[in-house]
Amino acid sequence: MVYNWIDAKAYKMDCFLFFDRWILDFIFQNIEDSDYVGDMAKALYNYPYVKEFIRKKAPEVSGFMDAIDRVDCTKYSLAELREAETKILQMHETFVVYAFPEVMNRVNYIRNWSPEYLYRLVDLTEKTVLDVGAGTGRLTFAAAKMAKKVYASEPCDCLREYMRDYIKQEKITNVKVLDGFVENLPFEDNTFDVVIGGHVVGDDYDKEIAEITRVLKDGGIIVLCNGDDEFKRKGPDQELVKRGFEWFVHESIEGGIIYDYRIRVKK
Ligand SMILES: C[S@@+](CC[C@H](N)C(=O)[O-])C[C@H]1O[C@@H](n2cnc3c(N)ncnc32)[C@H](O)[C@@H]1O
Repeated sequence: MVYNWIDAKAYKMDCFLFFDRWILDFIFQNIEDSDYVGDMAKALYNYPYVKEFIRKKAPEVSGFMDAIDRVDCTKYSLAELREAETKILQMHETFVVYAFPEVMNRVNYIRNWSPEYLYRLVDLTEKTVLDVGAGTGRLTFAAAKMAKKVYASEPCDCLREYMRDYIKQEKITNVKVLDGFVENLPFEDNTFDVVIGGHVVGDDYDKEIAEITRVLKDGGIIVLCNGDDEFKRKGPDQELVKRGFEWFVHESIEGGIIYDYRIRVKK
């Protein structure tokens, strides 16, 4: 899916140097797709140091890198190589913005969102809260204004560092930033009163919700609070409705139809 969060023409393959290993694993897995391998070969042709970085950082993708190196790119013009580069960067724009948190904060779903949409879903007073896949901290820092303590788990190093800098700059005392995937959270069972998340649950609902439930206390609440994008959704996420989530809907200033979700977990 193309969101057009960035104009890929303004970026170069150098930004792959900021990518975490799990992102490289995702990007360089589809070795069977010869068009994709060909485009990637062209995109990386003028960036031997980026190829070297990828091989060193993620040795498990060496099969893909070998396939790239077998593609004869000498026959392509500079314009053709640049076209492939732009195509690859646009295709992976979500990862590009994770490397540029200030750009991510300017994407509409973050820029146009108001913390009131979180506060109407859950009373965070005196609560210990986890934000899964915290990103630049849209939900984390909104929650921190109300909660006792907020843990922001985020698998992307650039975003963790961004949040840590923000905490220092704003002298925030009740937020702790950690690594972690929603399907494998680095916390003991029954730790949190509330788990919040935005645009994170959805790749494997059962696994993700089971892991969030594990770290929640009995009677704890899961809140999935999405940002204010432009997408005109036709209804709530049926996978969440099926699993018993209540839903809430509002319209974004760009006319997007935004659904948020909440469930109280009984263990
Ligand atoms: C679209 S951003 C949303 C960021 C933030 N939750 C928000 O709504 O503003 C998705 C975030 O999830 C993180 N992410 C990606 N895969 C993840 C996973 N398996 N577990 C936890 N977070 C993940 C990304 O690094 C990114 O920060």
